[in-house]
Amino acid sequence: MKKSIALICCLGLLQHFTIAQNSISLSFNPSKFTTQTQDFQGKTIKVRAFERIIYVANPIDTTQQIMNVYIPEAYFNGEKINGYSAETAPIFFPNRVGGYMPAQPATFINSPQKGGGMGGPPSNAVIMALSKGYIVASAGARGRINKNANGNIGKAPAGIVDLKAAVRYLKFNDKLMAGDANKIISNGTSAGGAMSTLLGATGNHPDYEPYLNEIGAAKTSDNIFAVSAYCPIINLENADMAYEWQLNKIRSFNFRGKSGELSAESIKVSDDLKAAFPKYLNSLNLKNEAGKKLNLDAQGSGNFKELVQSYIVASAQKALDTGIDLSKHNFLKIEGNKVVSIDFDGYMIYLERMKTPPAFDALDNKSFENNLFGTSTIDNRHFTKYAYKNSKDPNATVADKQIIKMMNPMNYIGDKSAKTAQNWRVRHGAKDRDTGFAVPVILATTLQNKGFKIDFALPWDKTHSGDYDLEELFRWTDSLMRNE
Ligand code: DHB
Repeated sequence: MKKSIALICCLGLLQHFTIAQNSISLSFNPSKFTTQTQDFQGKTIKVRAFERIIYVANPIDTTQQIMNVYIPEAYFNGEKINGYSAETAPIFFPNRVGGYMPAQPATFINSPQKGGGMGGPPSNAVIMALSKGYIVASAGARGRINKNANGNIGKAPAGIVDLKAAVRYLKFNDKLMAGDANKIISNGTSAGGAMSTLLGATGNHPDYEPYLNEIGAAKTSDNIFAVSAYCPIINLENADMAYEWQLNKIRSFNFRGKSGELSAESIKVSDDLKAAFPKYLNSLNLKNEAGKKLNLDAQGSGNFKELVQSYIVASAQKALDTGIDLSKHNFLKIEGNKVVSIDFDGYMIYLERMKTPPAFDALDNKSFENNLFGTSTIDNRHFTKYAYKNSKDPNATVADKQIIKMMNPMNYIGDKSAKTAQNWRVRHGAKDRDTGFAVPVILATTLQNKGFKIDFALPWDKTHSGDYDLEELFRWTDSLMRNE
């Protein structure tokens, strides 16, 4: 008798322990879905919608740490779409992060919707992906303004940790769910593009493990197959220098509702940051396609600048080839059907300056990025020595080195402890002023130099936005699958 009571007690305790430790199951439930349909390009797209799945066992915020999964109904009837089957369909993984804010998962119904980022056109990436036979999984993530009773809960690295946890959920449930979790393709714009590059760069890296453990992420890998990123706002601790290297001569700004002329003090900041950029760039030891080291001299000239210009020239050439009239642009030298060269300073006048210096680590400690690098109890922190030293905020502190490291994909590409995605597609509008061109050019060159496949371009006249070339994007993702 006593024995059995003891056993019951013990079982009760065990049950209690499991509930407390593991309150939410990480097992995908294939029968918990609704059927949704939508017409798209003359076809009716019918899917099974598995919505608002909590993707971690110990969530901190069940309104953000949720994922929507959409699976074409055809896969449950043994049919194929675009050559893919229930077993082979790749998983398109778009996020809707913008401004490093909290993000909800994308949905099938009510699409088209904003693709992410702070601006840009509506995106119908979800329905387009489904129409082409992709499984769509879109995760929400905590962001910089999320709070609970204990304080801030969405500061760096929360957003990327959440997205990695969602990737783990997909891999953990690969056998229970249609689609191939070894073929996850992330997609995002701006801060969401940064998240996409971080997912691609940092696969399985131990730096994130304690954070993933804390929220009860599935115990499996989180490396992904391919990255699609539009205007990723990355390399934050070096982006202030890149911005002034490019826009030092442009003295008018128009930044989130405030416009005007740079003060003498701001011009001095711009000069300092511009002057610091060549040392950073030269330290990267990047090579051009001919294998020659990319450099800048103290004035900021050199073959790295030529490389940046060559991407703008290629962009103008593509526009010209598609019949766009570029004759009004005096900064372009065009001979016959060929864009021969670009006057960089003239192009900057056309482009205009958006942000005041420093563009990211603001001296008043109030930028989006300062807010990203806060802690549970501190709202905003600096993340560069320069801004901290010159801060106007008497209470300013600096973010931990490790946190700054974890928010920059550049620190992980090719790191032996990371499984970096093999396939990358990066687009940054040739009319985007939210970050300097050097930022995506350094990303693309690093990937190239380290042997990853990178398809990179600065689409002509595109501003800070994403998802504007979805047909091309899915042609690229399809080509990756055909080459496997
Ligand atoms: C975004 C834009 C910015 O200019 C920035 O500094 C951070 C994020 C965005 O659109 O997500």
